[in-house]
Amino acid sequence: MIRIILLILLAVLHTPAFGEESVSIKLTPETIERGSALFTQYCSGCHGLKFHKGAAPPALDPQAAEAAFGVAPPDLSLMASARGRGDDGAEYIFRLLTSYYTKDGQTRNKAFAEETKTDGAIAMPPPIPMDDPALKEKAADISAFLLSVSDPTAEERLSIGPWVLSYMGLLTAILYLLNRYTWKGVKKKLKS
Ligand code: HEC
Repeated sequence: MIRIILLILLAVLHTPAFGEESVSIKLTPETIERGSALFTQYCSGCHGLKFHKGAAPPALDPQAAEAAFGVAPPDLSLMASARGRGDDGAEYIFRLLTSYYTKDGQTRNKAFAEETKTDGAIAMPPPIPMDDPALKEKAADISAFLLSVSDPTAEERLSIGPWVLSYMGLLTAILYLLNRYTWKGVKKKLKS
């Protein structure tokens, strides 16, 4: 029994993707900082972050943007929460940035197609070129940054999760041993 508990404990602690989904969106101070710089470089021309402290308004004013693209680029402060729970919204942004393709000469996007249940014709041109060799890393950092903007406590939650679980595992093991120790004496007495 104790071996089973220890094995489960080990399995939990050794899962590398713990607290993450298929895409590795890691909320660390480094990814968030890189994501913030990349956001300024690739996104802030069109998108604002009006609920983010110290963020500048988008370079392009919303009306001019609407005239240019047909749709005004939405403010992204709360987007990572609006498009899914936990880190699902950040994953969506990651997929959005990495799933552009062209069909009949038109820009389409797979993630956008699934989200909007349309053919995926999107008014946003690919912000990061699809052939950028660092596309995935950049998209993951930007998604992490946008998740930290929309959900400032997410980083803390994701980072204490594994500690809480190990603590509970340890407590379980101690209580199990204590329980065995307590009953040992009783069982002996009953036998004699
Ligand atoms: C050239 C202007 C432009 C740039 C640069 C740009 N966007 Fe957009 N973005 C748009 C427009 C326009 C829309 C509205 C698209 C639509 O609804 O068809 C949009 C929509 C979005 C959406 C919402 C999609 C949805 O599900 O409704 C997200 C998320 C997004 N952009 C993220 C980003 C990120 C992240 C970057 C930087 C890596 C970026 N955008 C750069 C113009 C831009």
